[in-house]
Amino acid sequence: MQTRITKALGLSHPIVQAPMAGGMTTPELVAAVSNAGGLGSFAAATTAPATIRAQIAAIREKTAKPFAVNLFVLAPPEVKPSEVEFANALLARYRLELGIETNAASPAKWAEDFETQFEAVLDLAPPVFSSTFGAIGARKTAALKARGVFVIGTATNVAEAKLLESQGVDAIVAQGAEAGGHRGTFVGRAEDSLIGTMALIPQVVDAIAIPVIAAGGIMDGRGVAAAIALGASAAAMGTAFLRADEAGTHPLHKAALSQVGETGTTVTRAVSGRHARGIRSRYMEEMAPHADQVPAYPVTNALTTVLRAEAAKQGKADLMAMWAGQGAPMAAAHPAAEIVESASSLAAKILGAGEERK
Ligand SMILES: Cc1cc2nc3c(=O)[nH]c(=O)nc-3n(C[C@H](O)[C@H](O)[C@H](O)COP(=O)(O)O)c2cc1C
Repeated sequence: MQTRITKALGLSHPIVQAPMAGGMTTPELVAAVSNAGGLGSFAAATTAPATIRAQIAAIREKTAKPFAVNLFVLAPPEVKPSEVEFANALLARYRLELGIETNAASPAKWAEDFETQFEAVLDLAPPVFSSTFGAIGARKTAALKARGVFVIGTATNVAEAKLLESQGVDAIVAQGAEAGGHRGTFVGRAEDSLIGTMALIPQVVDAIAIPVIAAGGIMDGRGVAAAIALGASAAAMGTAFLRADEAGTHPLHKAALSQVGETGTTVTRAVSGRHARGIRSRYMEEMAPHADQVPAYPVTNALTTVLRAEAAKQGKADLMAMWAGQGAPMAAAHPAAEIVESASSLAAKILGAGEERK
């Protein structure tokens, strides 16, 4: 199956392994997907620049095929002591339960510095750059393109897609409400942009001229075929790769995915201060009344990082963040190449030979 995306990037399959920050997108996973003819994506948002360099070098050792590097577009946070105090008061019970020292309530840094991360990525010029949470702007987009980098932006509504297109990006990931992980929304309220993939993709396809990559709830060849039928030029699958052999997903997260049902995920702001979809947990339920009050990303994210890491160490899945999409029950434990090839061959069979609709 050839589309504008496969042709632009030299892929054999219109399938992107979506970026997933949190250690899932190991060099092994990214390279396995790219070597299979899809596009692997390294989620670098929570990674320090020196480690980004090392990871990109490791990917390049394992594949000569194109791959993507992904960042969160973040301004330096303005941190108010009163909001930190408010969040810490809510989190104290969990720190106590996990035996965490109180000094974990003031992290050394709130987030990696986006500008420094971006400079490192620009310098390394990976074949593809993608981003979410915002628009990088026309100047940064042009700088990447001048270095031969294919630039992808993420939209959760038509206004974001148009804005990103106007800044010169090469393609748009349209992220539907089914998607696992953080919502990319940056124009309007995240609550208003929980648009299902089936409704979102054709509206974005109709509104812009550049190719669209559909994301959210696409788990196998049926979903890939549906995305292409709606006018997308490729499908991005995240949750479908969480149980892949090469994924660095925590064993408790993998185990939870094997047991979750179709009603088992929800969108919450309580974990990080930004809306994100994950497997329901005790933390999410208990914090639900405060989900709209906690400080915005990255502040709450930083305050819960130690807590979530300690919960993982102690085997307490109910206090971890296990991001996953609504298709989670369909995630299967297979080698990544098999996930790519079986999804692509089933999609081709469903659609028959041909090209995307736009
Ligand atoms: C565990 C996890 C982490 C994620 N982290 C990122 C990220 O770092 N950057 C990003 O652009 N999207 C991130 N996402 C969103 C995915 O890129 C993609 O939009 C989503 O997985 C698609 O929906 P699906 O999970 O139903 O396949 C994440 C998703 C998950 C499940």
